[in-house]
Amino acid sequence: MKNLTIDGKRLWDSLREMARIGATEKGGNCRLALTDLDRESRELFVRWAEEAGCTTGFDAMGNLFARRPGRDPDMAPVMTGSHLDSQPTGGKFDGAYGVLAGLEVLRSLNDHGIETDAPVEVVVWTNEEGSRFAPAMIGSGAFAGVFDLDYAQGRSDADGVTIGAELDRIGYKGEGCGDRPVGAYFEAHIEQGPILEAEEKTIGVVTGAQGQRWYEVTLTGQEAHAGPTPMARRKDAVVGASQLVQAINKIGHDFQPDACTTVGMLQVHPNSRNVIPGSVWLTVDLRHPDDARLAEMDRAFRQAAEAAAEGAGLTVVIEEIWHFGATPFDETCVAAVRAGAERYGHSHRDIVSGAGHDAVYMARVAPTGMIFVPCEDGISHNEIENATPEHLTAGCEVLMHAIVETAGGR
Ligand code: GLV
Ligand code: MN
Ligand code: MN
Repeated sequence: MKNLTIDGKRLWDSLREMARIGATEKGGNCRLALTDLDRESRELFVRWAEEAGCTTGFDAMGNLFARRPGRDPDMAPVMTGSHLDSQPTGGKFDGAYGVLAGLEVLRSLNDHGIETDAPVEVVVWTNEEGSRFAPAMIGSGAFAGVFDLDYAQGRSDADGVTIGAELDRIGYKGEGCGDRPVGAYFEAHIEQGPILEAEEKTIGVVTGAQGQRWYEVTLTGQEAHAGPTPMARRKDAVVGASQLVQAINKIGHDFQPDACTTVGMLQVHPNSRNVIPGSVWLTVDLRHPDDARLAEMDRAFRQAAEAAAEGAGLTVVIEEIWHFGATPFDETCVAAVRAGAERYGHSHRDIVSGAGHDAVYMARVAPTGMIFVPCEDGISHNEIENATPEHLTAGCEVLMHAIVETAGGR
């Protein structure tokens, strides 16, 4: 079969139209999971998918599926997709690209009159970002059986509102989860890091994802008056927290070349300028592509937390709320992505994903591969996140190839 084209302008225009939902003044997106804006983005996706001749449906986690039938309805579908929720100061491409590249493949298959043996499905996973509800990737995690449904639906946001209640409210709580067969899964995504751009490569052939551990830490001291309390008598939780933040940053540097460590959320209690802080709650994100090194980082972090607490006269409680190990992707799927890049003449290199993706959980239940395209300055999880139409088109062409090869397109 000759190289199938996709319509890069239609993909770009769809990305721009989707980005209007939850657009921010700085040119990014704030479309938190299961808000009214999330519902709007789902409705737009459903409309487009139905216009492309797909049937749509959703499961008990609100994971949303659009299906283009194959010649053989009994074959497990080849699935592709990503997420439409964003970070609070997110960009236009993280997640939306994978969903709309999948949709563009379906539209282009229609344009070319191509049938596939296996059905092709485009999926929108619920709450990939883990920003409003922790942990991340919970829709795909429930689908893959990593989280049971009660746990997943019971996760709550900062105001105590649960995923289950929000799914009911926006009308996206269906039945069952994980009971659809999947023949293979491919996900296209911006790289979210600087490697492809620096090496002037168009396609990242993703061979797997690094491991990740998330913790919530509470440091408790004693609230007291900021004036009359002598320095020597204080149990200041912010002092301990700041030492811990420094120590966590140092762990990231100590475990180079591959480690990443981040404290992304801090809550100070009672958060009053003339009260010595009585407690601090903070989040920790540790990542490494080697599970043994990640375990060493875990130990270093726990020691640092004890030392920081002791130094400031505090108690510390650490809860590990999420953990997934380094995840290699399926060799056949990785090869299909590489072959797609070569077929369309796009420069490429193998790459390990630094970010978590729904593909990480899908890899537990189906042969899985991912396609990365460069993003400007490697910046993501930021409203200035940017990618070129040319690179986005190239990634979609590679996705087209991987899907058509795997689903038996003729
Ligand atoms: C997902 O966005 C992650 O934190 O890797
Ligand atoms: Mn993403
Ligand atoms: Mn993200």
